[in-house]
Amino acid sequence: MNTIITGLQWGDEGKGKIVDYLTETADVVIRGQGGNNAGHTVITGGTKYVLHLLPSGIIWDSKINVIGNGVVVDPVGLVTEIERIEGQGISITPDKLLISDRAHVVLPCHKELDAAREAALGEQKIGTTKRGIGPTYADKINRCGLRMADLLNREFACAQITRRVAEANEVLAKFDLTLFDADQVIDEVYTAFERLRPHITNTIPVLHEAWKSGKTLLFEGAQGTLLDIDFGTYPFVTSSNTTAGGSCTGTGLPPTAIDAVVGVCKAYTTRVGSGPFPTGDEGLSDYLHGLGREFGATTGRPRGCGWLDTVLLRFACMVNGVTGLAVTNVDGLDAYETLQICTAYDIDGTLHTLPLADRSAWDRAVPVYESLPGWKCDTTACTSYEQLPERAKSYLARLAELCGAPIAFVGVGPDRIQTLVAPQA
Ligand code: GDP
Ligand code: IMO
Ligand code: MG
Repeated sequence: MNTIITGLQWGDEGKGKIVDYLTETADVVIRGQGGNNAGHTVITGGTKYVLHLLPSGIIWDSKINVIGNGVVVDPVGLVTEIERIEGQGISITPDKLLISDRAHVVLPCHKELDAAREAALGEQKIGTTKRGIGPTYADKINRCGLRMADLLNREFACAQITRRVAEANEVLAKFDLTLFDADQVIDEVYTAFERLRPHITNTIPVLHEAWKSGKTLLFEGAQGTLLDIDFGTYPFVTSSNTTAGGSCTGTGLPPTAIDAVVGVCKAYTTRVGSGPFPTGDEGLSDYLHGLGREFGATTGRPRGCGWLDTVLLRFACMVNGVTGLAVTNVDGLDAYETLQICTAYDIDGTLHTLPLADRSAWDRAVPVYESLPGWKCDTTACTSYEQLPERAKSYLARLAELCGAPIAFVGVGPDRIQTLVAPQA
């Protein structure tokens, strides 16, 4: 059974936790898009691991982890991450971590260009993670990017890096920003590359062989559907296809290799960065932040919080072909008296049950809410779906009904063991 794990909201839905839970019965865990803009948290046995580029399966022994061709890899960031995770007692050997030779390389100047563009946008900024994601994907699409395989040919790669640094400096000079020295960039990139070299390979035949020999593959999505370059709240999105299809183009495994798509969402909604958030609610944000929750794993920024938005979830289930929902952070609502679920947007007097492409419509979208009673009790110690309070089950059943997909998993706490399996519908 090969499964894509995909985010259904604006990222940070708890994908890392669900991937980790499912890794026990998987053989290979594969990232297919995004870069170290992702921050996936896994907590088990009292230890917390935060993964940015490494697939979450890395913390398990004897599982293969693959960084696929669709990922943009910051070599310096990846080496730092490998060292950090190794420092937590996890071994990361070349047979355990494979990096695609087709993955594009994030250079230090991509990060600076990302930051410069954000500064230039002022109030209109995207609120990026400043990890150079947009500029690197832009180079890829512009057909002037640098791939891992190119770094194997040092002479060619140095010429490419020198050219790219010169172009970046032209832009940075306009903003009066510090310019890059090409030789220093080359040194920095190659120091990291030498550490990564044993891991770099043509991952596509490896993945196909695993597929054909009946191994279980787990595709770890990064970001979420509303951050997808095509389906998200454009332009307040990331620069890759974060939806299920991205897991195929980003790994070289075809749609026929996929058996299931688990869509991960929180029991409420969160978003970091700028852009529309119709169900955003200051009261709920203050409440969750007061509990010490909802601070970003990558940048530490407080996430905006709001009520469950099934207009967005319905759309996300459609475009991802979700076969089962993993609803995390149910425990976040444990103490709330009355819960709201957005079932439609009222835009200029017309009800919409799917989001529109028209960016100006977001400002006029008034959420239509349905109220449900809270369960007002602690769910964190529940060890089975059956133990959940009836009102929590009713909330989840309504969520599933409005989204058109069955509940598969429920999260009642951040630890691996706080994952409940829902009975088959
Ligand atoms: P990802 O990017 O989708 O992997 O999600 P993040 O790790 O960025 O953010 C999810 C946050 O919620 C992390 O702090 C997780 O430890 C935490 N988390 C995941 N599932 C649950 C859950 O069911 N309950 C609680 N309390 N926390 C959870
Ligand atoms: P995970 O995998 C939440 C957001 C940024 C910004 C927008 C563009 O942990 O769910 P980028 O740096 O990608 O150009 O930023 O996308 N963003 C995320 N938000 N979780 C993420 O990843 C995100 N990755 C990017 O905040 O709004
Ligand atoms: Mg995250």
